[in-house]
Amino acid sequence: MKGIILHGGHGTRLRPLTHTGPKQLLPIGNKPMSQYALEDFKEAGITDIGIIIGDVYPEKVKGFYGDGSKFGVKITYIYQDKPAGISHAIRLCKDFIGNDRFVVYLGDNILRKGLVDYTKKFQNSSAEAMILLCEVDDPTRFGVAELDGTKIKKIIEKPKNPPSNLAVIGIYFLTPKIFDIIDKLKPSWRGELEITDALDLLMNSGNTIEHDTVTGWWKDTGTPEDILHANQLVLDSIGTPNQFVISHDSEVRGNIVIGKNTTISRDSFVTGPAIIGDNCTIGPAVRLGPYASVGNNVTLKKCDIENSIIMEGAKIDAKIHLVDSIIAHQSEIEDHTHPKKHQFLLGERSQIRL
Ligand code: G1P
Repeated sequence: MKGIILHGGHGTRLRPLTHTGPKQLLPIGNKPMSQYALEDFKEAGITDIGIIIGDVYPEKVKGFYGDGSKFGVKITYIYQDKPAGISHAIRLCKDFIGNDRFVVYLGDNILRKGLVDYTKKFQNSSAEAMILLCEVDDPTRFGVAELDGTKIKKIIEKPKNPPSNLAVIGIYFLTPKIFDIIDKLKPSWRGELEITDALDLLMNSGNTIEHDTVTGWWKDTGTPEDILHANQLVLDSIGTPNQFVISHDSEVRGNIVIGKNTTISRDSFVTGPAIIGDNCTIGPAVRLGPYASVGNNVTLKKCDIENSIIMEGAKIDAKIHLVDSIIAHQSEIEDHTHPKKHQFLLGERSQIRL
């Protein structure tokens, strides 16, 4: 089996964070979100992987994943010149896929349980496709499946009146039969060749589509709120390996992963779950967590940070209470006035002086 990770799209709902890179490289639990897809593939024995890149800094994707060897996989890059839909992206992979069965993983989806069991199930099945369903509160945001008993009756993209609350998640098990089906599709109201239309047509052309239900959590990370929620879900499952230096009047509590050469100094409290990268300076007088992801080379002083993502190289030296915030690489916040409570969503290289 082969794997495809979709890494294109403009990520408009995540601006300004996506002005300087593709959304799938934004870190969740200190790891680019698409790395979770790649690791799920590898764990399921799928090591021949195509990554579809678009025109939002594709060189950053290539720079991070390279030829895949440092992740133990082989990567082929496939270029999509415009974000014309998931089916359009899949069609570009026809030569790469050849006669293999394959799995498509949207690079902005994260699935807690991984792919091992689902992959085995699809390998042992004669179905032309398998989709994964997850109950959601807001089905109008997703592709939705209507069931008739245990069989799928219909698959619809973002219905105004959803026939069920079963979202079709962004991981699709397919065979090369899908390519001829995609050739027959017309663009949807949003101008895209939809994966849901391809699946529905595949089914209506007399093919079997199996389905399974997601156990554990699944997250589509389209908005800043989704990213912070995904960060919480990932941090809830971290362990506690530490290699850090902590001064005697500081304290850490709960599940915390702290990188090499990171120091936590005077009067600082870190409450897990939290992850802090390498070479960070935390303190004096910092309160961090719960639910904080702090990248490498970050400096935090005097601040109180909860439920937030602070990316590599950022510096916060201010008496502020940050909640529900995403601070991109190399951003700086310094204070010159009184403590206040703030919420920020900052693009890369932003600078704030309070
Ligand atoms: C896409 C699919 C949709 C699916 C969702 C899962 O939506 O079109 O059917 O439920 O991914 O993440 P989009 O992210 O394009 O809005």
